[in-house]
Amino acid sequence: MAQDDKPPEGPDFAAGIPSADLVDGAILSGRVGDEAVILVRHGGTVSAVGAKCTHYQGPLAEGLVVGDTLRCPWHHACFDLRSGEALAAPALSPIPCWQVEEKDGRITVGARKKQPEPKKTGSPSEHFIIVGGGAAGFAAAEMLRRRGFAGAITMLSSDDVAPVDRPNLSKDFLAGSAPEDWVPLRPEDWYAKNKITLKLKTDVTALDTAARKLTLGDGSTLAFDKLLLATGAEPAHLPIPGADLPHVHVLRSFDDSRAIIANAKDAKRAVVIGASFIGLEAAASLRARDVEVHVVAPEKRPLERVFGPELGDFVRKLHEEHGVVFHLEDGVTAIARNHVTLKSGSTLPADLVVVGVGVRPRLTLAEKAGLSIDRGVSVDEHLQTSAPGIYAAGDIARWPDPLTGERIRVEHWVVAERQGQTAALNMLGQPTPHRAVPFFWSQHYDVPINYVGHAETWDALDIDGDVMKRDCVVRYRLGGRLLAVASIYRDGDSLKAAADMEHQVARSAPQTG
Ligand SMILES: Cc1cc2nc3c(=O)[nH]c(=O)nc-3n(C[C@H](O)[C@H](O)[C@H](O)COP(=O)(O)OP(=O)(O)OC[C@H]3O[C@@H](n4cnc5c(N)ncnc54)[C@H](O)[C@@H]3O)c2cc1C
Ligand code: FES
Repeated sequence: MAQDDKPPEGPDFAAGIPSADLVDGAILSGRVGDEAVILVRHGGTVSAVGAKCTHYQGPLAEGLVVGDTLRCPWHHACFDLRSGEALAAPALSPIPCWQVEEKDGRITVGARKKQPEPKKTGSPSEHFIIVGGGAAGFAAAEMLRRRGFAGAITMLSSDDVAPVDRPNLSKDFLAGSAPEDWVPLRPEDWYAKNKITLKLKTDVTALDTAARKLTLGDGSTLAFDKLLLATGAEPAHLPIPGADLPHVHVLRSFDDSRAIIANAKDAKRAVVIGASFIGLEAAASLRARDVEVHVVAPEKRPLERVFGPELGDFVRKLHEEHGVVFHLEDGVTAIARNHVTLKSGSTLPADLVVVGVGVRPRLTLAEKAGLSIDRGVSVDEHLQTSAPGIYAAGDIARWPDPLTGERIRVEHWVVAERQGQTAALNMLGQPTPHRAVPFFWSQHYDVPINYVGHAETWDALDIDGDVMKRDCVVRYRLGGRLLAVASIYRDGDSLKAAADMEHQVARSAPQTG
């Protein structure tokens, strides 16, 4: 994903450029010393900021300017052009900013600005607890500290490692193109430096909403002032003989990914059960490791339910071009040490099996606590549950989608992170409705598919471009209304679709934030 580290090209902004070279809304690439910098004119202001996104180094010069923000073309991170702050995930760190002077028809870039220290907020005696060390939990903790929360933060996670970049576990890391040190979201010492007490291998077993206290697996209790539940989801297991054999894997945690890699070192043939995003990404990564891969799934076309038939056929063809063999409209009825048995009666040799048959939100804690549940933890637009001061975010949360008015729950990395960020602001007493338009991406070999909005169903699908040529925008509508847009190598269109939907949300929603 990372771009080559070539020396920056283009004009030297420190020497200045003619003002006329930068029209409103335009982005100009250049450099200041050895650093790649872009100049952006937005409204009446010119900003000079770093040229690379702090998520995976996406090229911000190809991004979209929306008001005083800049959106990354790859996974839609949103940066404040005035301060560089990463306002919306998946980027969490700011981009650098430089002083700019516009005088006598020239724009000149000066010294690099210092990141401002956050103003302290909240009381030092307050204690916020976050249950979950995943996307939403981490983003919430990071935002609380970024915005100067003065109190104590405890993050409780049943994982055995600090928060990781989960999407990487089925993509670059599993394929062998990203080293282990890319996977943690922050180095281990970040938590202590930011005064976040991170307790790993810690199960929260009970929540008493009235006494405002949690019970942990070892029987101890912890009191909180405000709480965020971000317990995520767990992989569904298959109730078939052999599902617990050592060469059968699910894929959710860092350890799961490492176990598949260890198994793949001497595996010749893998069977992936389920043509889900995770199953197919795992298939692509195993092909990168030269393992023969067979995918077995009940549907007619992979990912058809999410993307429709055309993109489903494309995904299938793409995998077939890389040697994956599909066994669709079929299932696995039993797994043995060296093979799996299919519903259709045949057997497939397999010395590695990956089960990617979906996930279930981890709701037990919220259910037992008596929180309102509706196929997820019900939250309001501020992500508050039915208990005041207790919030929920990420894969477990069902929230009112301002675009459609429906209550939705989705399992996307960026949504979970953005909800964690929104929950943090609400916990700080800054009322912030969650109005972000859902976004996800999925990567198969060198082909990324981006998706904005949310369409559980649609009655019209139109395609602009050519799906098979990997150059398309697919729009999903219901009753004439645009619900979602999927795209391949049309980052500009994808960004624009997200900005349009955001605009629609802003126009229709009451201003409570
Ligand atoms: C391999 C893989 C690849 C993915 N790729 C993509 C992608 O490309 N794009 C995309 O949009 N999405 C992707 N996803 C989905 C995305 O990772 C999830 O939507 C996201 O992680 C959800 O974040 P979360 O914080 O809700 O839950 P999680 O990240 O799952 O975190 C939940 C946390 O809660 C902890 N926990 C649960 N119960 C308890 C308890 N009782 N006590 C203490 N701790 C508890 C868990 O240990 C974990 O730390 C992928 C998922 C996987 C597994
Ligand atoms: S590289 Fe910019 S959002 Fe991912």
